[in-house]
Amino acid sequence: MAELASKFRIAIGVGSQRAAIEREDLRRSFAVVREVAKDVPVIGNVGAPQIAKGYGLKELMAAVQMIEADAIAVHFNPAQEVFQPEGEPHYGLSILDKLSDVSKDLGVPIILKETGCGFSREFVRLAKSKGFTYFDVEGAGGTSWVAVEMIRGVRRGNWKAEAAKRFLDWGIPTAASIVEARSEAPDAFIIGSGGIRNGLDAAKTIALGADAVGLALPVLKAAESGRGDEFFKVFIFEMKVAAFLSGSKDLRQLKAAPLVIKGDLLNWLTQRGIDLSTYLKMRGTTHERLLR
Ligand SMILES: Cc1cc2nc3c(=O)[nH]c(=O)nc-3n(C[C@H](O)[C@H](O)[C@H](O)COP(=O)(O)O)c2cc1C
Repeated sequence: MAELASKFRIAIGVGSQRAAIEREDLRRSFAVVREVAKDVPVIGNVGAPQIAKGYGLKELMAAVQMIEADAIAVHFNPAQEVFQPEGEPHYGLSILDKLSDVSKDLGVPIILKETGCGFSREFVRLAKSKGFTYFDVEGAGGTSWVAVEMIRGVRRGNWKAEAAKRFLDWGIPTAASIVEARSEAPDAFIIGSGGIRNGLDAAKTIALGADAVGLALPVLKAAESGRGDEFFKVFIFEMKVAAFLSGSKDLRQLKAAPLVIKGDLLNWLTQRGIDLSTYLKMRGTTHERLLR
């Protein structure tokens, strides 16, 4: 995956570095990403529950240094933690306060990242009031950790599996979460992710108000089966076609391309009190503040 990131000049984020922060012998499996992907943004990763349980500047610095990270994502996964037998659903306001403190000395941006349930506008408003300006919304519609825990639970005969099944659809869909986040934080750097499967999805994500697009499962599958080159060739082509056909010369113009929002998403935004004409005017702002 790091080879693909380097070849196609795409930013890459590693998985949770918790194991390697706690066990030095595992650091190599993360460091290899930076060794291979030398000149693209590399993003570190730790879990919010670890912050609640005691991680601070020292641990986040270690994660950054391990891969010479350009930014570090702190993932929020309360839905997974509650259904995971070994889960740690430690969530509270203190996480944001602590992270906000740590960010003063960390030297790289902290990206607040969901993991499949999306951020709400209320969360983004709160985080923004504490100084956060990078979000990866990771909405519902792609990889579901509730589903993963349900399947694991069924296999192991865990009693929580039944409840996990009821929460399979929990979360804010990716498209809605992008609009919720952008409407609260016009100047934030927002990554749209969760269920992005092709270049057309990606183009829509940008046009809807994201500054960048993230994907996990399809890249993992393509890389594992040796089809990574083909995957990105088609993906980038599709993005270019969407830009070309909508009369957008580049991503900046795509961000401001005329947009029609209908159906479920329109209904969602109406219920959430987001005024569409105001939103469509402000969502096209260009955010030059990229990772590097
Ligand atoms: C195998 C796998 C492992 C993942 N591990 C992490 C992780 O350690 N930390 C994290 O923040 N997200 C992790 N994710 C979640 C992804 O970053 C992303 O939130 C989620 O998969 C939705 O995107 P997708 O629908 O494109 O897969 C992982 C995803 C996959 C598929």
